[in-house]
Amino acid sequence: MTRREPAVDCRGVTRTYGVDGSMVPALRGVDLRLPAGSITALVGPSGSGKSTLLRLLACVDRPDSGQITIDGVEVAGLSRTRRVRLRRTRLGFLYQSPADNLLEYLTVREHLELGAALRGLSARDPQLPALLDRLGLADRADHRPRQLSGGEQQRTAIGFAAIGPPVLLVADEPTGQLDHTTADEVLAALRVLATTGMAVVAATHDPAVARLADQVLQLRDGQIVDEESTWH
Ligand SMILES: Nc1ncnc2c1ncn2[C@@H]1O[C@H](COP(=O)(O)OP(=O)(O)O)[C@@H](O)[C@H]1O
Ligand SMILES: [Mg+2]
Repeated sequence: MTRREPAVDCRGVTRTYGVDGSMVPALRGVDLRLPAGSITALVGPSGSGKSTLLRLLACVDRPDSGQITIDGVEVAGLSRTRRVRLRRTRLGFLYQSPADNLLEYLTVREHLELGAALRGLSARDPQLPALLDRLGLADRADHRPRQLSGGEQQRTAIGFAAIGPPVLLVADEPTGQLDHTTADEVLAALRVLATTGMAVVAATHDPAVARLADQVLQLRDGQIVDEESTWH
């Protein structure tokens, strides 16, 4: 890996929701760095702001204040059009439920071809067979989601999100609906992808995800209260 800058840098990020005239502060000044090639687990009780933070990192929502720099671009101030383009070309997103990640009428290979097209790559890009192989999906390439196990579905979703590759892969509870063995397969897939240089951030209640992570960030009431990293 040649890049030394963190893939993502957040400074003083806040986000408050207005609900029926009252204000709910979901993030109250978050600072964090997500190094390229690393996995960060975001842990914390329900309602602590994990999903809100991930939506900001995935550029589907904007902070009220603070800076979010992704691959050198300050994203908080981008126009909607540029944010949509950045999201399509440089970011990957993985939801908890495979059904939210996949289209039932596309095969595994077609999901990867769609991901490639969104990122301006040809359907014949060598990344496709390489990813199918790495994700253990080569012999499932012509199957549709309902013909796949939950783990295979999540690995297909990871393939779709990871082609490009993006700078950042954002995952909200990626193993939340999987049993232990299947969750381990998904975690192994995330690790493989991180070694290709992208930053991975996953909100999780799963201790296995936190164990695998290079960095664990704990959110409480919209602030990071503890961080722990296994690299120097
Ligand atoms: N769309 C929304 N409108 C109003 N309040 C919200 C919305 N989304 C989240 N919240 C509130 O913001 C806080 C953080 O929520 P969230 O980011 O979903 O936390 P987590 O993912 O850690 O459970 C909670 O108090 C939640 O009720
Ligand atoms: Mg959440």
